[in-house]
Amino acid sequence: MIIAPSILSADFSNLGRDIGVVVDAGAQWIHVDVMDGVFVPNITIGPVVVKGIRRATKAFLDCHLMIMEPERYIDDFIKAGADGITVHVEATRHLQRTLTMIRENGLKSGVSLNPSTPLDTIKYCLDNIDLVLIMSVNPGFGGQTFIDAVIPKIAEAKKMISGYAIQLQVDGGVNKDNIARLAQMGVDNVVAGSSVFGTDDPGKTIKEMFDIVSPVPY
Ligand code: DX5
Ligand code: ZN
Repeated sequence: MIIAPSILSADFSNLGRDIGVVVDAGAQWIHVDVMDGVFVPNITIGPVVVKGIRRATKAFLDCHLMIMEPERYIDDFIKAGADGITVHVEATRHLQRTLTMIRENGLKSGVSLNPSTPLDTIKYCLDNIDLVLIMSVNPGFGGQTFIDAVIPKIAEAKKMISGYAIQLQVDGGVNKDNIARLAQMGVDNVVAGSSVFGTDDPGKTIKEMFDIVSPVPY
């Protein structure tokens, strides 16, 4: 399982240091939460910061765009050094076109669904998707509680993508208590923000999380 620490809960005055700590502890992906204050009620960072992070690490930069009309900024994130771009199905009018834009540039194309968004919305785009992100909180903030009602949706998503080379990612409220269950369900990739960077020793915490999921066969 890939565990992608979300820098939303890191120390923004020491981003390079915090990323180094989790990468040294085994994290291969870094999750970057981009928020515009319109799609979600919070504003975070943009391509300029991604460009800075790119200089600090070789890890896979997983950019989760929680912004309206993400197609307007895809080029900027590509130039900044993103490795994967995930857009919200609720935020883009032409999902197939947006995913193609991402993929044509050699990046992993991701699509994310809010907790209340049905899986049907991505059904006809499965050929264009490298990663499906099921949100297990309403996006906007770190440190929220995992919404259990999303569990059956994760199981359905797993079924829907079987036979496709698509990674299943879950984001929001993931911690040491629920990560094993997600691994058992066949989730390939989880995002963890506050449960990693909110602890005294994020490196130790992420190692513990890897230990929890490593014995699980999937
Ligand atoms: C939520 C973001 C998440 C967030 C996760 O809007 O998309 O990536 O950082 O934070 P935790 O793990 O604290 O729920
Ligand atoms: Zn995220």
